[in-house]
Amino acid sequence: MFVHNIDEEVSLKLVERSDAERIFELTDRSRSGLREWLPWLDFTITIDDTKNFIAHALGDFALGKSLNCAIVYKGKLVGIAGFNEINQAKKTAYIGYWLDENYQGKGIMTRVAAALTDYALTEQGLNKVEIRAAIGNEKSRAIPKRLGYIEEGTIRQGEWLYDHLVDSVVYGMLQSEWASSDRK
Ligand SMILES: CC(C)(COP(=O)(O)OP(=O)(O)OC[C@H]1O[C@@H](n2cnc3c(N)ncnc32)[C@H](O)[C@@H]1OP(=O)(O)O)[C@@H](O)C(=O)NCCC(=O)NCCS
Repeated sequence: MFVHNIDEEVSLKLVERSDAERIFELTDRSRSGLREWLPWLDFTITIDDTKNFIAHALGDFALGKSLNCAIVYKGKLVGIAGFNEINQAKKTAYIGYWLDENYQGKGIMTRVAAALTDYALTEQGLNKVEIRAAIGNEKSRAIPKRLGYIEEGTIRQGEWLYDHLVDSVVYGMLQSEWASSDRK
């Protein structure tokens, strides 16, 4: 079981089957805000969809292909973050995240993204972490910027969101850069 304490308020733990009810509750009540930027809300309609997500997450984790964590803030599960994909051949991990609306604006995800970056580049021996965000998603883009990631470019029409395409901005952090960063 993966558990990582970030500070006295925030920790990460691998999602588990018993989290399904809480994760679905958060998804449902933050649905309209999350739907603006995340592509899976219309495919998460019942708790069974969340159970399927957890089952896939655990299967991929066992294969070393991803790490999807529950974010625990002051003892409560408040969102999901982790590596949507870990590509061992490229030594690269791709971070994804979302937070319940009631817990945004407290600096939670900046702390979580810093911890995930450090875990990938310091503990797991990977060479690079990437974060991609839609060009208009300023709150998400602020996170890699705050952590000193380099903006590497824009993938034109990089993501389909229900009824329209959006450009995606790619941010990258190399192991060598993180090692000399004062943000870790
Ligand atoms: C993007 C998202 C994850 C950001 O989560 P968050 O925890 O609010 O983000 P941060 O950690 O960057 O918090 C920054 C805010 O907290 C405030 N804050 C408070 N304490 C802080 C601290 N110790 N460190 C940093 N920021 C702090 C900042 O002032 C900032 O406020 P502002 O947004 O009014 O400028 C969240 O908005 C979200 O879930 N959005 C919808 C889903 C989504 O877009 N996912 C990403 C897809 S690529």
